[in-house]
Amino acid sequence: MFARDVRYLYQSYGSYVTVGQSDPFRATDTQRNKYRIVSPEHQFRDLVMASLHDVERAVSNGIPPPKLDLPYPDTPEFITENLLKLLELTPNPRHKFVLKNLIKHLHQFINETSITTEEWMTAIQFLTRVGQKCTTTRQEFILFSDILGASALVDAINNPPVSGGTESSVLGPFFLEDAPEVQFGDSIASEGKGEYMFVEGRVLSTDGTPIPGATIDTWETDAFGYYDAQYKNFEKPDCRGRLHSGEDGRYGYRAVVPVAYPIPGDGPVGEMLVALGRHNMRPNHLHFAIEAPGYNKLKSLVVKLQDIKDEAEARKRGFPKGDSFKLLQFDIVLVTEEQSKAAFEKFAKEQAQKASVRF
Ligand SMILES: [Fe+2]
Repeated sequence: MFARDVRYLYQSYGSYVTVGQSDPFRATDTQRNKYRIVSPEHQFRDLVMASLHDVERAVSNGIPPPKLDLPYPDTPEFITENLLKLLELTPNPRHKFVLKNLIKHLHQFINETSITTEEWMTAIQFLTRVGQKCTTTRQEFILFSDILGASALVDAINNPPVSGGTESSVLGPFFLEDAPEVQFGDSIASEGKGEYMFVEGRVLSTDGTPIPGATIDTWETDAFGYYDAQYKNFEKPDCRGRLHSGEDGRYGYRAVVPVAYPIPGDGPVGEMLVALGRHNMRPNHLHFAIEAPGYNKLKSLVVKLQDIKDEAEARKRGFPKGDSFKLLQFDIVLVTEEQSKAAFEKFAKEQAQKASVRF
């Protein structure tokens, strides 16, 4: 029984015998260590040895093998071509288009850089660490996407400029869904979090019409350069809030002056910036994410502040002490979904024409 099951397992887990060792069960310690690095299936050996009879028979995903006459992939060209032929079988046309392009560029990148096995393993370990660093309040992958310029590029492509519309920006890694509701004039920051700032403006369409009822999410650093979720004892939101524009499109709230802050240095992305010799500070900014029915969702960053030194004005705006505050005036101009869609389709068409020449 044992021998038969092991034979079956050998057949099902062929990758065991393709990495330079015919029998991993008889491997020396050194050889086993090699397996542990090369083959993630090494864990299966322990599972087999521990409780073979508890293992359910492995089954395929039900998709029949491809009826393709593919050449043996013994050259880099055949490896790429074979995979592209397999991807021709992809049922969803968009999946097929995106994955074929991804494979073309990935294989081209590997070829052009002559990536070594060690470098490739370093990259895989780096991505593994990026994933392991993510939690419900920490998004290391968004940070990675940001520093590669990928977030900005995706945003720029998906939100092409529309005349008169507010410029779009990236969401960043610190957005959370649970912002508390605040009313006009309320503060999103608790007392002592930083220098007072009042934020006000209108939400408008590109023809200047006020947009009432727009949902505005806003979040920022405190005076120490941290977003709330970065604190170890983080329990409830601070320096973030959700409000709605009034009938005249107006919105206004109290906050604190955001400060320049570093990209978190205690993870793989921070280490990568050091390795690349790249500066890790971001200029001070306030985040916005605005939604209104019929309009394109907008993410934006703002930094332009005015100094106000007027005690009466400070009291009038709800600040409990002092005679000065910063004022940030920001009119948010939303583009309609139709305007955005037309601009995106124009851009996509131009790119497709360029791509047809390139590929
Ligand atoms: Fe930010």
